[in-house]
Amino acid sequence: MSTLFQPFQLKNRKLYNRFVVAPMTRISAETNGVPTEAMQQYYDRFARGGFSAVITEGIYIDERYSQGYYHQPGLAKDQHVAAWSPIVQTVQAHGSVIIAQLMHAGGQSQGNMHTDERISPSGIAPKGEQLEFYGGKGPFPASRSLSYKDIAQVQEAFVDSAQRAKQAGFDGVEIHGANGYLLDEFLTEYMNQRQDDYGGSLDNRLRLFLETIRAVRQAVGDDFIVGIRMSQIKVSDPDYKWSGGENDAQYIFEQLGATSLDYIHVTDSDATQSAFGERTRTLAQAAKTFSQLPIIVNGGLGDAEQAQALLAAGDADVVALGTSALANPDLPNKIAHGKSLVAFDFAATLLPQAEIKHHELQMTLSE
Ligand SMILES: Cc1cc2nc3c(=O)[nH]c(=O)nc-3n(C[C@H](O)[C@H](O)[C@H](O)COP(=O)(O)O)c2cc1C
Repeated sequence: MSTLFQPFQLKNRKLYNRFVVAPMTRISAETNGVPTEAMQQYYDRFARGGFSAVITEGIYIDERYSQGYYHQPGLAKDQHVAAWSPIVQTVQAHGSVIIAQLMHAGGQSQGNMHTDERISPSGIAPKGEQLEFYGGKGPFPASRSLSYKDIAQVQEAFVDSAQRAKQAGFDGVEIHGANGYLLDEFLTEYMNQRQDDYGGSLDNRLRLFLETIRAVRQAVGDDFIVGIRMSQIKVSDPDYKWSGGENDAQYIFEQLGATSLDYIHVTDSDATQSAFGERTRTLAQAAKTFSQLPIIVNGGLGDAEQAQALLAAGDADVVALGTSALANPDLPNKIAHGKSLVAFDFAATLLPQAEIKHHELQMTLSE
């Protein structure tokens, strides 16, 4: 287990081991997106349990179209900043780093207190059905395609929320470019039918990513971590693959590698498997090879031996754990002391909280 417990220098912060908590939406903020004391306790458990870094749940970035779920926390106004600060301090008090995941839900939004309208690159509804578990029902509705003004407002919202994250004391931000949300919709051919300079070629479909990274970096300066999360898989389309396979991956990761990003966080359903068909690279290998940046890897890596093998092979630098961290908020400490892990149980871990929140939501909406 040697690599997993070695420190890692992430820009200007030292992670004391390679265990990071993956971003997980927990729908436990106030209706107006203000983080709660329950969230402080939730994040504290991971920092106490030996995770050297925590990436927060996806945080909405403005009071327009970015919110994806009712009871999602925001970084869209001063009140949000004030309520995040004690959470940030709690995590940092244990020597852990905390990074805010900035998210624009785009057409994959299923609950926004500020509007019923959704925006997406071409107004096309995502595949599949909304997650009932998060209060949604039925297919995703169609949306409105973004105008140039909307695109400018989205970039401004990423910039403003990144500055708010810095103000709240976060060590950095992670731009959510994965899982079928707005930026990923731009990258996805069937979601992006635009005829302008944001659609068509891969170059154009990546434009908003690169512009956003540049704008955020310019606003937060050089002493603040800026990363990005990338995936092929989507909430609304878990089997999606980039049409150009490894060639697309090469282009995407080379482009991202040439920016001022401090890391790329890749997620796949099984991070140890070939990502682009038989005998191809894993997503992490592709990201590492083509970007040359520090790589956080995620996806089914709760088994420490598998995670260790991946790091030892040099395919990634840090491992992000989602469900296994939920079931074992003290997973790194357990591994260090040779204790056995609790298996993740969806019904036991997530459903009770979702039911309470669903009930609260019905009450709020009927007020
Ligand atoms: C309850 C839950 C909420 C999630 N919310 C987010 C999120 O807000 N942002 C994100 O990028 N991924 C989110 N994910 C995906 C996880 O970060 C992670 O990619 C996924 O759980 C696979 O990793 P694992 O095998 O370690 O669980 C969520 C996953 C779960 C289980």
